[in-house]
Amino acid sequence: MPQDYPLIVVHDVDYKYLNETVALKKINLKIYKGELIGIMGKNGAGKTTLIRTFNGLIRPTNGNIYINGENIKSKTPGTLSQKVGIIFQNPQHQVFSNTVEEEIKYSLKSLNLSKQENQIKTDDILKKFDLDKYRERSPLNLSGGETKKLAVASIFCRDPDILVFDEPTLGQDAKEISFFIELIKSEMKIGKTIVIITHNIEFAMEYISRTILMADGKIIADGPTEKIITNEFLVKKSALILPQISQFNIALNDIGIPCPNNIYSKDKMTEFLAGYIKDKSKVVSGESN
Ligand SMILES: Nc1ncnc2c1ncn2[C@@H]1O[C@H](COP(=O)(O)OP(=O)(O)OP(=O)(O)O)[C@@H](O)[C@H]1O
Ligand SMILES: [Mg+2]
Repeated sequence: MPQDYPLIVVHDVDYKYLNETVALKKINLKIYKGELIGIMGKNGAGKTTLIRTFNGLIRPTNGNIYINGENIKSKTPGTLSQKVGIIFQNPQHQVFSNTVEEEIKYSLKSLNLSKQENQIKTDDILKKFDLDKYRERSPLNLSGGETKKLAVASIFCRDPDILVFDEPTLGQDAKEISFFIELIKSEMKIGKTIVIITHNIEFAMEYISRTILMADGKIIADGPTEKIITNEFLVKKSALILPQISQFNIALNDIGIPCPNNIYSKDKMTEFLAGYIKDKSKVVSGESN
């Protein structure tokens, strides 16, 4: 369960890129220890820029960021990377070693382990992520999905308290998505704090309880995921596509089937429809008797 002190505090943060693009405008945000939080919003809303401020890759133009109560202003990205692990949207830019094995070993370097410990940890991680078979291969010769997996593995091996994923489900097949979900669940169990940027509404609906919605460099909503992504105003403003269940719900109401608007899951919808059909058939058989 999340604890009630904020692990990450973003206070009045602005960010302007060198080309004068203002990507973040007065962002205020608290993320609590043990939380799983989603960030959504249309392309260019500022999501990636925001998470890049968490490990010092980007320094706010104004405002401050605190992690575990400490202002990260004076901390280097190297130090911060042990606390905050970010898996980027385009992991190709994140991997640069000659082989998959070296990639993990390199990532472990900052932990100052002995050569033997580094090798043991590397072997464990390669097995855990099913990357053992690609040990000798160049990361450049992996598929997009495999590269993403390697990027996740190279962050996980350092065991940071905070894990940030930028579009983790993008381009992943069903098997990889369920591997990822299991990974998230086990990290949650051991108290990790997880931030996930996603455009995948169904995924957010099912696994993420709190969502932050961004538009035009600002946070425009922060609350329970199901409330945010079924709110037509917010959905329009941030160009999200309504979940299929919600679209189906609206269509049912349009044809006169009174489906309650708090049905967000496939199971709940099936339950409602089964009950509705049962009631209807009772009426029909009652009439014919
Ligand atoms: N390196 C950069 N230099 C200049 N402007 C940038 C840079 N990176 C991003 N931007 C601009 O900053 C704004 C926010 O971009 P950001 O990448 O944070 O959006 P995003 O919400 O992550 O979008 P997406 O969903 O497409 O990944 C956009 O207007 C973008 O064009
Ligand atoms: Mg982005």
